[in-house]
This record gives sequence, C-alpha cells and structure tokens, in this order.
Amino acid sequence: MISWRKHYKKGLIAISLLLSTGASVYAQGDPKKGQDLFKANCTACHALDKKVVGPALGGIVDKLKKEQNLDTDWLHKWIINNDKLRASGDKYANQVYEENGKVAMQVFEGKLTEADVDDILAYTTNPPAEEPAADKAGDAAATDMQSVQADKANQLNSKIMVAAFIAIAGLLFWLLLKIRQLVKLQQSPELSELNSTRITSFSQLYEKYSYVGKALVALLAIFALYGVWNWLMWIGVYKGYKPEQPIYFSHKIHAGENKIDCQLCHSGAKYGKVSEIPSLNVCMNCHRSISEYKGKYLEPGKDREFYTGEIKKIYQHVGWDESKQAYTGKTEPVEWTRIHNMPDFVYFNHSQHVVAGEQAIINGFNAKQKDPANKIDVVCKACHGKIDTMNVVQMANNFTMGWCIDCHRTTEVDMTNGYNKEYFKNLHDKLKKQYGEGSKITVDAIGGLECGKCHY
Ligand code: HEC
Ligand code: HEC
Ligand code: HEC
Ligand code: HEC
Ligand code: HEC
Ligand code: HEC
Repeated sequence: MISWRKHYKKGLIAISLLLSTGASVYAQGDPKKGQDLFKANCTACHALDKKVVGPALGGIVDKLKKEQNLDTDWLHKWIINNDKLRASGDKYANQVYEENGKVAMQVFEGKLTEADVDDILAYTTNPPAEEPAADKAGDAAATDMQSVQADKANQLNSKIMVAAFIAIAGLLFWLLLKIRQLVKLQQSPELSELNSTRITSFSQLYEKYSYVGKALVALLAIFALYGVWNWLMWIGVYKGYKPEQPIYFSHKIHAGENKIDCQLCHSGAKYGKVSEIPSLNVCMNCHRSISEYKGKYLEPGKDREFYTGEIKKIYQHVGWDESKQAYTGKTEPVEWTRIHNMPDFVYFNHSQHVVAGEQAIINGFNAKQKDPANKIDVVCKACHGKIDTMNVVQMANNFTMGWCIDCHRTTEVDMTNGYNKEYFKNLHDKLKKQYGEGSKITVDAIGGLECGKCHY
C-alpha cells in the first residue's frame, strides 16, 4: 500500500509538472532571441498586450491550450504557414481568420525555422522586462543642429528686443531730463529778466500744463514701443516663423528619417495653385498600423512616449477606436496653423513651379550654391528650405515680391521640357531672334516680371 502511495504521489507531481504552465513546455525556446525575431517579423501586425492587425499574442500558448485545447504543434503550423493550415480545413484556423475580417497573415515558410518559432513562443509566454532605452542618451546627444540654431536665433531675437526697449527708454529719459533742464534755465532769474514777457509766459504755460506735456511724452513712448514691437513681430511673421501645431508633426521624422516623398502628402502641388495640408485620412493610410513611435531618432527633450501620444491624437481627431480597429464616426477636425500665406492680391501657382519649372529651379538653385552640402534634389527645397530636417516647419525665406523677382531674373527657363516647348513655341522663336541663339532665357524674358502675372 505504502509503495502505491509513493508512486501515486510521483505520478501526480509528474502530471502537474506537465500541465503546470505553458512556459515549462517551451523552456527550450529563448525569450531574448524570440523578442528580436518577434520585432523583426511580427510587430507590423501584432503586439503582446493589444490587438493591432492581428490578435494580441501575450500568453497565446496558454490561451489556445485553455480555450481551444490546441497545443504548440498547431501554433507551429499556423505561424510557419497559416495558408496551408487553413486550406487543410483546420477548424480553428478558419475560425480565427473569419473573426479577424479575413485578413491573411503573412506566411513564414522558409523564413522562420521551428526553433525560431519556439523562441518566439517563449517570448510571448515570458517576455523579458523592457530594458530602459539605453540608446536614448546617445540619441539625445546627437543634437539636432537645426533646432539648436533656431533656438539660438530666437534667443538673439528676444535679446535684440530687450536691447531696443532699453535704448528707447533711455532715449526718452534723456529727453525728459533735457526738457527739465531747459525749463529750469528758462525759469532762472537772469533769463526771465533778460527776456521778460514771452519766456515767463512760456514757463508759466509749461508749469500750468506740464502734465499735458508729460502725458504726451508718455503717449509717444507707448506708440514708439508699440511700433518697435510690431516691427519685430513683422520680422517674425516672415522668415523663421514657426508656430506650434495642434499635433506635433515632425517633417524630420517623416520626410527625413523615413524618406516619405513630399508629394505623397502635399499632392496638390502638382496639379495647381495650392499644395494643401493633407487630410487625416492620408495620415491613417500609415497610422492605422503605426500606432506607436519606435524610431531611433529622438529630438532632444522628447521621448518615445511623447511621440506615441501625438500619434494617438490623430485617432482622437479622426475618430478611430484602436481596440476595435474601427471608426467611431466621431470626428473633430485638426486646425493646423497656416504658415505661408500670401496676401490676397498675389497669385502664386505651385504647379507652374513644381512641374514646368522643376528642373530650371533645381539647376538654378544648385548653380548658386558654393557649398555642395546646400544643393537640393527636391524642387520644394528651393523655396521652403530643408524641410526634411525641420521638426517644426519654419519659413525659410522672406516670401516678398523682391524674392520672387530675384529668382525670376536669375533662373534660366528650361525651354526643352515638354510643357514649355509646346506652350512657348512661338515666343521662344521670337526670343531666340531677340537675344540670339544659345543665349540665356531667364523667367523675366517669358513675362516673369509682368505685374499682371503675379497680381490679380
Ligand atoms: C501581415 C500581418 C501579420 C504578420 C506580419 C503576422 N501576423 Fe499573425 N496574424 C495576423 C492576423 C490578421 C491574424 C488573425 C488571423 C487571420 O486573419 O488570418 C493573425 C493571427 C495570429 C495568431 C493566432 C492568434 C489567435 O488568437 O489565435 C498567431 C499565433 C500569430 N498570428 C502569430 C504570429 C507571429 C508569431 C508572427 C511573426 C512571426 C506573426 N503572427 C506575423 C497577421 C499577421
Ligand atoms: C507625412 C505627410 C507629410 C510629408 C511627407 C510632408 N509633409 Fe509638409 N506638411 C504636412 C503637414 C501635416 C503639415 C501641417 C503641419 C505643419 O506645419 O507641420 C505640413 C506643412 C508643410 C508646410 C507649411 C505649410 C503652411 O502652413 O504654410 C510646408 C512648406 C511643407 N509642409 C513642405 C513639405 C516638403 C517640402 C516636404 C518634403 C520634403 C513635405 N512637406 C513632406 C505633412 C507632410
Ligand atoms: C507614408 C506613411 C506615413 C504617413 C502618410 C504619415 N505618417 Fe506619421 N509616421 C510615419 C512613420 C514611419 C513614423 C515613425 C514611426 C516609427 O519610427 O516608429 C511616423 C511618426 C509619426 C508621429 C510621431 C513622430 C512625430 O512626427 O511627432 C506623428 C505625431 C505622426 N507620425 C503624425 C502623422 C500625421 C498627423 C500624419 C498625416 C498628416 C502622418 N503622420 C502621416 C509614417 C507616416
Ligand atoms: C517657387 C517657390 C516654391 C516652390 C518650388 C514650392 N513652394 Fe510651396 N509655397 C510657396 C509659396 C510662395 C507659398 C505661399 C502660397 C500662398 O500663400 O498662396 C507656398 C505654400 C506652400 C504650402 C502651404 C499651403 C499652400 O499651398 O498655400 C505648402 C504645404 C507647400 N507650399 C508645400 C510645397 C511642396 C510640397 C513643394 C514641392 C513639391 C513646394 N511647396 C514647392 C513657394 C514654393
Ligand atoms: C526659386 C525660383 C523662383 C521663385 C522664388 C519664384 N519663382 Fe516664379 N517661376 C520660376 C520659374 C523657373 C518659372 C518658369 C516656369 C516655366 O518654365 O514655365 C516661374 C514662373 C512663374 C510665373 C509664370 C510666368 C509666366 O510668364 O508664365 C508666375 C506667375 C510666377 N512664377 C510667380 C511667382 C511668384 C508670385 C513668386 C513669389 C511668391 C515666385 N514666382 C517665386 C522660379 C521661381
Ligand atoms: C513674380 C511675381 C511678382 C511680380 C512680377 C510683381 N509682383 Fe508685386 N508682389 C508680389 C508678391 C509676392 C507681393 C507680396 C509681398 C509680401 O507679402 O511681402 C507683392 C506685393 C506688391 C505690392 C504691395 C507692397 C509690398 O511690397 O508688399 C505692390 C504695390 C506690388 N506688389 C506692385 C507690383 C507692381 C506694380 C508690379 C509690376 C511692375 C509687380 N508688383 C510685379 C509678387 C510680384
């Protein structure tokens, strides 16, 4: 009897060990290796703790065991080739496919080995604690020169402003002193005797109405300060103007780090007058699946949580329920602050410059650059500067009439491109006669200085 009891106990222990946790079964897998494999192959569609495109995968081994009585063999088959498993008529494989809107998961046959799958499953069962982002400090050290320079410029601006205020205050004070001296002089007995009636009456007048004078001086001071302030603000509204936006959208991260083409978002530039700010639906083409910031680049003072929070703002505005992966229908438009804005009496057309003038502008701009680092590849940069290095868009030029004219005077028109060849055929022949074969034809020669071309 005693020996049976002993065996019974051993058996129990063995069985409970076998059943205990999924993890013990995949002790063979390496969760650290699994983490890397998961990041490289699965994070586009899966997270451990929430549904992305596919279901959450944290503890998936236990879950399938408990709810579907499926073992890791099924998981291996599914992960390596879910297509084949579904085609074989496997009930749960087809069920999970239906439940997820029939979005097919990628097939990993030939890409992942059985051992890799073990590692991944070990990771989903026992994810190692997130390491503190070690590269953060390094990234932060890689300071973003652009923003530092901009900040310096801003500091300089406010320094100039303070200096201007002090100078004006000093000037006014000096004036006041001078006036007082003058009045004192006029009040002095010698003078009043010398110049009896008129000056005494003046000083009397002054004494009587001195508060009017002081009030006038004060008023003048206020006007002067207001003028200086406005003047400085006016400078700010041109070159260097960079307002805060409701979503911290970084061109450096999109157009720079991720090399997204300007015209993917500003698609209007090709077709007409305005470039347009993209609608949130354009953002959602990518951000439906990019719900977190995992990029290497960090602007000094910002962390990944900050960027992720900004991405969530898109969802809030566009009415996207992440957990259900569906639109709620509740939207609130984003109000971007407009940065470039020509007065109403000016006509500026993007497509004229971005399509017809593209090569001419790129060539003309690059010809003027002494430093090869300043050369451009994208036409937009000739006017908007290196937007792909800016976290916050900043006006890179003055956008004044002189600026337009200056470029028109110096940029040679590309008479060989399809657009100009057709459009300007007759004019071109005339110009050739007028200026001689092979001479430079700049934009002013085709009417780029005519008032009516730029003014309504
Ligand atoms: C292209 C997107 C995509 C990628 C990449 C992807 N999956 Fe999936 N996965 C899905 C979808 C979608 C489903 C839901 C089933 C379906 O619709 O086919 C799914 C389902 C699963 C399931 C079943 C979950 C359940 O609740 O039953 C597992 C396990 C799984 N994926 C593991 C992985 C692993 C591991 C990787 C990386 C090696 C991976 N997937 C990569 C899209 C993807
Ligand atoms: C992923 C989408 C996206 C890409 C790619 C993109 N932009 Fe933008 N752009 C925006 C959004 C959103 C705004 C409005 C918010 C802001 O000003 O930052 C904007 C604003 C601007 C503005 C200021 C508009 C104004 O208010 O006057 C300019 C100029 C601009 N982009 C030029 C560019 C150039 C040049 C490129 C390529 C180097 C580019 N953009 C690439 C989305 C994009
Ligand atoms: C072509 C794809 C694409 C489009 C379109 C796109 N994004 Fe992004 N976005 C990305 C990528 C890639 C990242 C970086 C993700 C990473 O590195 O983890 C990103 C990161 C972000 C971030 C965090 C970093 C930052 O810039 O502050 C925000 C916020 C963001 N996007 C907003 C937007 C908005 C708003 C729009 C629409 C105007 C938009 N995105 C359109 C691909 C896109
Ligand atoms: C020849 C100079 C020039 C070039 C080249 C140029 N822009 Fe502009 N851009 C301007 C001017 C000027 C404005 C202001 C227009 C206005 O207020 O009517 C502007 C305004 C914008 C705006 C604000 C919205 C709007 O359309 O008014 C965006 C966005 C923009 N540009 C993006 C781009 C992109 C992207 C490219 C390249 C495909 C580009 N620009 C090429 C001069 C230029
Ligand atoms: C970087 C150089 C550059 C700047 C800056 C520039 N332009 Fe132009 N512009 C061109 C070129 C090149 C053409 C000729 C395009 C072509 O081949 O048709 C042109 C053509 C034009 C035309 C058509 C002229 C015609 O006779 O058909 C107008 C109108 C015009 N620009 C307006 C403006 C205005 C307004 C501004 C300032 C807000 C401006 N441009 C700034 C380079 C520039
Ligand atoms: C290449 C385009 C272009 C041509 C050609 C042009 N202008 Fe302008 N003009 C502008 C722009 C852009 C502004 C707005 C500048 C600003 O907002 O600072 C402007 C502004 C003005 C203003 C307002 C004052 C100012 O400087 O802001 C007057 C007046 C004016 N233009 C007259 C003319 C006359 C007259 C001609 C013909 C001799 C002419 N313009 C030709 C682009 C042009």
